[in-house]
Amino acid sequence: MTVQIDHALEEIRRFRPSPEFAAQAVADKHLYEAAAADRLGFWADQARELLQWEKPFTSTLDWSNPPFAKWFDDGELNVAVNCLDRHVAAGLGDRVALHWEGEPGDSRDVTYAELTDEVKRAANVLTELGIGEHDRVAIYLPMIPEAVVAMLACARIGAVHSVVFGGFSADSLASRIDDAEASLVITADGGYRKGKVFPLKPVVDEALQKSEGDTVRNVLVVRRGENDVELVDGRDHWWHDTVGQASNEHEPKAFGAEHPLFILYTSGTTGKPKGILHTSGGYLTQAAFTHRNVFDLHPERDVYWCTADVGWITGHSYVVYGPLANGATQVLYEGTPDTPHPGRWWEIVEKYGVTILYTAPTAIRSFMKLGRQIPHEFNLRSLRLLGSVGEPINPEAWIWYRHVIGGGSIPVVDTWWQTETGAIMISALPGVTDLKPGSAQVAIPGVSVDILSDDGERVDGEGGGLLVITEPWPSMLRGIWGDPERFKETYWEKFGDKYFAGDGARRDEDGDIWLLGRVDDVMNVSGHRLSTAEIESSLVAHPYTAEAAVVGASDETTGQAVVAFVILKASQVSHIDDPAIASEELRKHVAMQIGAIARPRQVFIVNELPKTRSGKIMRRLLRDLAEGRQVGDTTTLADTSVMTAITRQVQ
Ligand code: WTA
Repeated sequence: MTVQIDHALEEIRRFRPSPEFAAQAVADKHLYEAAAADRLGFWADQARELLQWEKPFTSTLDWSNPPFAKWFDDGELNVAVNCLDRHVAAGLGDRVALHWEGEPGDSRDVTYAELTDEVKRAANVLTELGIGEHDRVAIYLPMIPEAVVAMLACARIGAVHSVVFGGFSADSLASRIDDAEASLVITADGGYRKGKVFPLKPVVDEALQKSEGDTVRNVLVVRRGENDVELVDGRDHWWHDTVGQASNEHEPKAFGAEHPLFILYTSGTTGKPKGILHTSGGYLTQAAFTHRNVFDLHPERDVYWCTADVGWITGHSYVVYGPLANGATQVLYEGTPDTPHPGRWWEIVEKYGVTILYTAPTAIRSFMKLGRQIPHEFNLRSLRLLGSVGEPINPEAWIWYRHVIGGGSIPVVDTWWQTETGAIMISALPGVTDLKPGSAQVAIPGVSVDILSDDGERVDGEGGGLLVITEPWPSMLRGIWGDPERFKETYWEKFGDKYFAGDGARRDEDGDIWLLGRVDDVMNVSGHRLSTAEIESSLVAHPYTAEAAVVGASDETTGQAVVAFVILKASQVSHIDDPAIASEELRKHVAMQIGAIARPRQVFIVNELPKTRSGKIMRRLLRDLAEGRQVGDTTTLADTSVMTAITRQVQ
């Protein structure tokens, strides 16, 4: 064994880039110098170099009405042309864009020329269905090439996509359709997950029944799972009957750089998910820049694989927009890491000769639990760079990833960013930065961050404070769909013109940044954002529940886990023989209402909740309990004996 995992908590090793890696690296230290000398000029150069503009921009940033930024505002481009047509025009039509691998083992290679054709066909069908510029299209698909096609077809005609993760429930889908007033849903009959077909179209049918807006006119259905579905006459159409038959001739139109590209819903501190809005030119610039430089992309020889689902921001920026804008060849995998066997991912790395792998710490920790013999059964020598995203990566997992998956000498980049930031904000640059396990390290060139105390003073040293972004950046969110006030309140009210990220962070003596987790009521479970308030309202909606409190408790594998404390209604208590049955019922209920990712790890049935005199629930004490710690200071509780009673009930 080469690494002492037990000692890795005190990991203080630094890893210099190897001279061979540095010699071929895309990034170099002059990027930092150029950005420091002229930040806006730097981004303007990146936008011109990385993208094709139909009309060049003359204005780089308009920040005259903060926090509403405009980047490259008078420029015009077509995002889909940037991801597809221009590569074909440059003679790269035969390059594989997607090595698609279905969970059961079926596979399909899609070249840039084929993907371009398919997007043109889909764009024609969308137009025939009456979808025009600014219209919203909900996409609810498994990880199949059609998901990429659907997103790019929207971009091509100036429609706005709202991708909803296939694991979300009918209720969640309905509320997202209603909030965005979507007029078309693109879905599939079903997809493969954990060896079974999970139905999607029936969930869409249910969502459309529940939807209050009645805005959806058409549903396009891709055949994938071959499960039985019903098509509603006049509303529902098979993808293969429409897109499959459509013309592959389509003249793209150029749109303004600030034309809306997509809405993506994410959890906030209230019960209602926020529709984060991203636009075209700035978003694509930063997605392409970071994808090239942070992953050291050499498009002519790399095989890149980001394991995220397109239902999350990582899938938007680092499966669809960044890699395709850069002309990369990538793997797209439909299923779960352990189906049909626990070495599935490593088998895929070997099969396609993956060179760059981008995944989440929670996945790395589950592989650590299974042991190194599983990855070691496969040839992983093609890998030359590893990335991590979604939550802090603990030094043990970082070291394991580098040694067991990466063979001990290749760079690991820990990338910090958010749905709101659109693209990577803090990360090492491989070949340039010395690597430090556990730290996301430094802001990328052209991005400025700081750490502040609650009252806005700069914090240096070990204590830590709140992470802020001090200058506007190209891929920043442009707002919350339909709610400009919430946009201002959530991110900009606390520190004036600085963006408040909601994460705690500290800076070490070298100036490297360590992320410390969320400082608000947002939980991070397996790298997915969940809101305590959203799960509490779901629990309270169940007839059993009188009151509920939810906390994120630290969990060895998933980072955090959802733990709920529920008081049952007095009228129900007499009918429930066993509290374990009630807990199980409530766990299922949350999974049904929101989606399986939100299912609580535990639901404790209690008689009381710890409250202050003003009636505020003290979640901090519940978290102590859920994490098995000594319960902290209870003196501000209205009734100080409550925690003793709850502790007894929980044990
Ligand atoms: C967390 C995912 C530490 C953070 C791209 C952030 C991280 C939230 C990291 C955003 C990282 C993401 N180190 N924490 N490298 N990456 N986070 O919107 O709390 O799904 O605020 O975007 O994930 O989650 P989101």
